[in-house]
Amino acid sequence: MSKLSIAERVRTAPTAELCASELAWDPWAHDAQPDEPAVPAYGPGASQWDAIPASAPVQTEIPERYRRMPDEELARRIAAAKAALGSRLVILGHHYQRDEIIRWADFRGDSFKLSQHAASRGDADYIVFCGVHFMAESADILAADHQRVVLPNLAAGCSMADMADEPQVLSCWRQLGEAVGEQRVVPVTYMNSAAALKAFCGERGGAACTSSNASRVMAWAFERGERVLFFPDEHLGRNTGDKLGIPDEAMVVWDPRRPLGGLTPEALGRARLILWRGWCSVHARFTTAQIAEARRRYPDVTVIVHPECRREVVAAADLDGSTELILETITKAPAGSRWAVGTEINMVNRLAAEHPDKTIFCLDPVICPCSTMYRTHPAYVAWVLEGLVDGRVLNEITVADQVKKGARLALDRMLSLPAGGGR
Ligand code: 13P
Ligand code: SF4
Repeated sequence: MSKLSIAERVRTAPTAELCASELAWDPWAHDAQPDEPAVPAYGPGASQWDAIPASAPVQTEIPERYRRMPDEELARRIAAAKAALGSRLVILGHHYQRDEIIRWADFRGDSFKLSQHAASRGDADYIVFCGVHFMAESADILAADHQRVVLPNLAAGCSMADMADEPQVLSCWRQLGEAVGEQRVVPVTYMNSAAALKAFCGERGGAACTSSNASRVMAWAFERGERVLFFPDEHLGRNTGDKLGIPDEAMVVWDPRRPLGGLTPEALGRARLILWRGWCSVHARFTTAQIAEARRRYPDVTVIVHPECRREVVAAADLDGSTELILETITKAPAGSRWAVGTEINMVNRLAAEHPDKTIFCLDPVICPCSTMYRTHPAYVAWVLEGLVDGRVLNEITVADQVKKGARLALDRMLSLPAGGGR
């Protein structure tokens, strides 16, 4: 099994093994030029062809000296800046980050674990979040007032989170109110959403959830209302509904582009779980055919997938769970065991390198990282850290106070429930 990182594999792999040849370019090739109109783009990878909102944050090209720095110098500078900042700095790294980034993380984790770390490191002045925009926003909501949250590359958004915006959700809520009475609906937002949508849920008696506690949060919501509106991930919502035994006919999909979500009042009347039409383009790549092929190659393989995969993929797998659950399960597995994994390639590649005594491979044979996670490269981390050493907070993520209040309610309700939700 290759010890090369995904960035190194991308540099050496034949183009046919990549989902986009532009993956081999430096990430700043996709950033905005200082004197040109800023046009948001996800960049190469799984979300490359997803529609991006015009309001999505854009990263302007960082100074040339960082772009030109050899890898070893970037590493030396990051280490020096980390040492200079000491306990004033905490670096959080999501499992989908490149190896070249994750090595600097004080804490690695899934969205849930990282939000707990963000809430627990009150002594650090700066939280540098190597993840995506909604995670940095959540850190700002949970952090103490004096703490400043930094996202090294502002273009690191999430195409799934971008599939639900506040006007669309407000319009859905109004229409639901007219059709079924909104007081009987509890809104639940996946962590992968804008802070304004977490506030929307917090202010209406709802909560946020992550893939590690979706079942608990949804069960909690059903104790409080007849119906749950779940956004923005249709698949996590349906997979969670399946785990809670919600019958198929009681789950409907709300398409925000169509009047009444494309539903009839009768279908809405029967619905218990209203699922937003949104998805993750990384997890949409996994198929039952890939699972069948993995089982054909290795009859003793265990298939583990993220619950953002489609229902039939989760059903065909042996296990499903958050990135942290996938990591823990494979880490604890006996030597010699074989694992086919349906989640982001940087994480799967790292697991394989860290456990050479096990066979671990990604279900998808093509290298196709999360476009936005992949936008974070050591050059951006060196740039923001050296800024902090000089007293300049670059790429700060701040959530407005009035939004923070409601969003905090939604997150606190989630954090107060015990974790759980795998199969
Ligand atoms: P986890 O909470 O499992 O880390 O998932 C976050 C995510 O964005 C998966 O696509
Ligand atoms: Fe968003 Fe999917 Fe990337 Fe996770 S993997 S950050 S859900 S686009």
